[in-house]
Amino acid sequence: MSVHQAVLIPGDGIGPEVTAAAKRVLIAAEAPVAWMERQAGIAALERGRDLMPEETIEEIRRCGVALKGPCTTPVGGGFTSVNVQLRKKLNLYAAVRPVRNLRGVPTRFDGVDLVIIRENTEGLYSGVENQVTDGVVMSMKVATEVACTRIARWAFRYANRRGRRKVTVFHKANIMKVTDGLFLRCSRMIHEQEYPNIEYQEMIIDAGCMKLVQDPTQFDLLLLENLYGDVVSDLCAGLVGGLGVVPGANIGDELAVFEAVHGSAPDIAGKGVANPLALLMSAVMMLNHLADTCKDESCRAAAERIKSAYDRALADGRKTRDLGGDLGTEAFADALIERL
Ligand code: NAI
Repeated sequence: MSVHQAVLIPGDGIGPEVTAAAKRVLIAAEAPVAWMERQAGIAALERGRDLMPEETIEEIRRCGVALKGPCTTPVGGGFTSVNVQLRKKLNLYAAVRPVRNLRGVPTRFDGVDLVIIRENTEGLYSGVENQVTDGVVMSMKVATEVACTRIARWAFRYANRRGRRKVTVFHKANIMKVTDGLFLRCSRMIHEQEYPNIEYQEMIIDAGCMKLVQDPTQFDLLLLENLYGDVVSDLCAGLVGGLGVVPGANIGDELAVFEAVHGSAPDIAGKGVANPLALLMSAVMMLNHLADTCKDESCRAAAERIKSAYDRALADGRKTRDLGGDLGTEAFADALIERL
C-alpha cells in the first residue's frame, strides 16, 4: 500500500484545534497519508515567517494536495487574505462545497443534497480597491472570458461525472450587465455546446436566495462567481446544521487544497468546543480525490470508514455544541475513533 504525502496547514483561531482532531481520526482510520506540516497566516507570522511562506506554497506544489485550517483576515484594513492569495498563487480556480443533510442532525429540511461550485480567482476578489477622491472609494470587479469559461466547463463536467441533473447559475446580470453578463454568456455557451444533456437554469441571485431558504431541494448544482459563491455557501451551511458540517475543496488542474467553509471562529478559539467535522469531511474529500487521481482504493476505503464513524456517532447523539450536543472538539474525535 502506498502512502501519500499531504501538506497540513493548521491555520489560525480554531484551526489548530480542528486540524489536530481531524489528523487523529485519519491516523486511527489508517488513512494512507503522511502529513507534512507547514504554516500560513498569523501562525506563520508568529514563527517569524511571511504570512504566506514560499516554502508552504512549494510543499503544496510538491505534494499535490493539502488539508488547510482557516486563516484569519483582518476586517476593514491590514493584510490581504491569505486564503485568497493561496487560491490565486496555486490557480485553484474551482471551489467545491457539497451541502447535505447528515443523519442525526435534524434541520428544517430533509433531502438537501446540493453542491456549490464557486469561481475562486476573480470577481470582486481582484484586490483592486482605491480611493478616487476624498469620501469616494471604488472596488473593481474583474471577469475574464478565460476564467468564466473554465469554471463553467469545470462545473458541467463535474455535474456530468457525478450524475447531477441540473446546473443553476445565480447572477446579477440585470445590474452588472457586463461582468455577470459575461459569466452568463460563458455558462450558456458551455451548456449549449458541450453539455446539452444537463438541465440549465439562470436565476437572479436575490430571488435565488429566497427560493433556497424556501425549498433547497429544488436545486442540484449551483454555479456562482466568487463573492456570490462565498455568501451563498454560508447560507446553504445554515440549511443543514451550520458551518460545523460543510466541507470544501479548492481545485486546480494539478493541485487541490481541502478546507472547511468556515473561518477561524475567534469567538470560540482556544476553548476546545469547535466542531472538527467540517474539516474532517474536507479530509474525506481529499481521500476520495487521492483515490481518483492516484487510483488508490485504500484511500476510498479509509474515507468510507470515517464517514461511517461520523454517521454513527451523530445518530447516537454524540455531537458538539453547535449541533445541540455537549462534546468538545477532542471528545467528538474520541467518539469517532471508538466507532472506527
Ligand atoms: P467564521 O466562519 O469563523 O464564524 C462564524 C460563526 O460560526 C461563529 O459564531 C463561529 O463560532 C461559528 N463557527 C465557525 N466554525 C465553527 C466550527 N467548526 N464549530 C463551531 N462553530 C463554528 O466566520 P467569521 O467570524 O466571519 O470570520 C472569522 C475569521 O475567519 C475572519 O478573519 C475571516 O476572514 C476568516 N475566514 C477564513 C476562511 C478561510 O480560512 N477559508 C473562511 C471564512 C472566514
